[in-house]
Amino acid sequence: MNMSKNASSPDLPADQALRFYLDAGVDETIGTEPLDRYALSQATAKVPKPNRQPTPATSQGKSHSSGSKLGMPASLAAPALSSAASQSATALAAATSSLAELRAAVEGFEGCSLKSTAKSTVFADGNSDGRLMVIGEAPGGDEDRQGLPFVGVSGKLLDLMLESIGFTRESAYITNVVPWRPPGNRKPTPEEVALCVPFLERHIVLVKPEVILMVGGLSAKTLLNRTEGITRLRGRWETVATPGVDVPIPAIATFHPAYLLRSPQQKRLVWRDLLAVKEKLDTSAPS
Ligand code: URA
Repeated sequence: MNMSKNASSPDLPADQALRFYLDAGVDETIGTEPLDRYALSQATAKVPKPNRQPTPATSQGKSHSSGSKLGMPASLAAPALSSAASQSATALAAATSSLAELRAAVEGFEGCSLKSTAKSTVFADGNSDGRLMVIGEAPGGDEDRQGLPFVGVSGKLLDLMLESIGFTRESAYITNVVPWRPPGNRKPTPEEVALCVPFLERHIVLVKPEVILMVGGLSAKTLLNRTEGITRLRGRWETVATPGVDVPIPAIATFHPAYLLRSPQQKRLVWRDLLAVKEKLDTSAPS
């Protein structure tokens, strides 16, 4: 949440006023001038909505209007108002032929409003030649400050999870579905996710991992194009197929370390998932 500076608060010394705002859920400062968002939303409501014409299948040479090669469900497709941003994300991602180019494309993309409240674009960490690609959900506060994925408390647990199967954060490759921290660590909206998917797809194509570990429900649902919760999705081998990778990539979902910190009894199941990853890699020759 954020709040303009003229919003009412008790007449308090600065430290107590800050505490007041924090307790009220205000954890972002996104501007120095107050903005009357109520008036703005009233104005937006009066603008007639454009016709929601389906994007012609041929417009990008692809048969899906969301621009998603992962086959995003209609609910995750970018709404018409953002279709220009969605097409721009698709075109930018498709034009990249290296991770450095992809990083620059993500950093230069202005179509997702999450970027305007985030401090950093959190692209990836680890070894892009590694056999294992770990895909989490979205950066939190620590990740936003440091510009790297999974460096906060749940990242420490992810490190331990990886170490338990012989990886480190230097030998695996770690990224997220969404590269910008949603304000207040809220869940990214389906529209925000849809805007980031072309970059995620390209990321997978360029890294070409042997195995993908999907960490958390958002990651599993996005990559598998499914609506079930993580409890149903975890622990099963699936494949992620996106044009540009020759063979569909084996992928398995597991619980998010942030959830494990709240529900440590679930570590047993995560251990099972991690062993499955290890076994899959042990039984296939490195490519
Ligand atoms: N949670 C995630 O899913 N990703 C991060 O980078 C940090 C926390």
